[in-house]
Amino acid sequence: MNILLLGSGGREHALSWKMAKSHHCDKLFIAPGNAGTAQFGTNVSIGINDFNAQKKFCIDNKINMLVVGPEEPLVNGAFDYFKNDEALKNIIVVGPSKEAAQLEGSKSFSKKFMQRHKIPTAGYTEFTKENFENGKKYLAQHSLPIVLKADGLAAGKGVVICNDHNEALQVFEEMIINKQFGDASTKVVVEEFLDGIEVSVFVLTDGKDYQIIGHAKDYKRIGEGDIGPNTGGMGCVSPVPFVDDVFMQKVEERIIKPTVAGLQKENLVYNGFIFFGLIKVNDEPLVIEYNCRMGDPETEVVIPRLQTDLVSLFAAMDNGTLIDANIYFDEKKYATVVAVSGGYPSDYKKNLKISGFENLKMNNDSIIFHAGTKQVDDDIVTNGGRVLAVTSFAETIADAANKSKKILEQIHFDGMYFRKDIGYEFE
Ligand code: AMP
Ligand code: GLY
Repeated sequence: MNILLLGSGGREHALSWKMAKSHHCDKLFIAPGNAGTAQFGTNVSIGINDFNAQKKFCIDNKINMLVVGPEEPLVNGAFDYFKNDEALKNIIVVGPSKEAAQLEGSKSFSKKFMQRHKIPTAGYTEFTKENFENGKKYLAQHSLPIVLKADGLAAGKGVVICNDHNEALQVFEEMIINKQFGDASTKVVVEEFLDGIEVSVFVLTDGKDYQIIGHAKDYKRIGEGDIGPNTGGMGCVSPVPFVDDVFMQKVEERIIKPTVAGLQKENLVYNGFIFFGLIKVNDEPLVIEYNCRMGDPETEVVIPRLQTDLVSLFAAMDNGTLIDANIYFDEKKYATVVAVSGGYPSDYKKNLKISGFENLKMNNDSIIFHAGTKQVDDDIVTNGGRVLAVTSFAETIADAANKSKKILEQIHFDGMYFRKDIGYEFE
């Protein structure tokens, strides 16, 4: 099978690493990819949202499967573009339809979906310009903290948790009236604050059946001890010690099954990953958000742990046999540590030379995934805020995290930073 993978992050490096191992994978192309994905396939310079260029490429290169890494092309209708085109419709597309991708693309859509299917989530109210004045009154009497969410995609910056009423009013006005996130914030969801521990569960579904392919805890804050601004993710661990059989049973019965049944009932065409962002409050799981793709860096910890062939799983999803698949996980503990560029998640420099790869003392228990990197002549340089994600496995989370840190200590670029406490609460 010839495969085209869209995306350029650590997630795509991990997916290409895994898919290249499959005996079903003949040629693998990554658009646009990074310096890491080039180790497992051919990078092609086509944009993730450039469906016309993807079409030409798929026809010219006899592509059989399109795997969509990030959410944007899915929310923009990549699935529908391929399935509605005579020349492309037989290509397996891993990712939901545009309509179903609204589970991530619109907070309002996903909250209503959860309400219709009685899936546990925080209570909420939504506001637009039309009921802005009511919204201000609503916020003024709301208990603190107040969770404000831009309805649409806002590059991970659309959720603001406010600890005082004035701040909440400012953010509210900024989003709706000043259109801080353009059309994405003309509608705002105001949500009840949930106090608990977060965990993410990953499912592959054909819209009828599903398989759980892993779970992970993500460390979102830039600073050690979980302080400072939110990032795309500074590290991950899997499995998560508090996710026991009893908890997973609740997640399946109350969240995963009603979600998949809801998709089917509403004829929402879904052929891909569902990322359930969950929070555990008093031992009960609630949904914080749905994403219509794998997480980053969650993929870098979940996919190496998954022992089942991923390309076979994608094919099974497409031909209606997903239910028969056997899912195996490595018993070891996995930890990913992400190295970022100085200044991230605010402004940071790019094109910084990364050194240390040449004489690296590697062990067989670690994998270096590239995120924001690119090859320039003989050098690998930084090309984003999150630069590398090193995953290791061991008997304990602490040992796995230590192995990842030991690898990163041998690598250098100006301003490089990584958290040294990934998995700290589980040591
Ligand atoms: P989201 O983009 O929806 O994942 O939100 C980003 C982060 O905001 C989540 O991972 C949580 O840490 C936090 N968050 C979102 N909604 C809530 C909520 N209702 N209560 C508490 N924290 C929340
Ligand atoms: N690490 C969070 C995400 O991928 O959305």
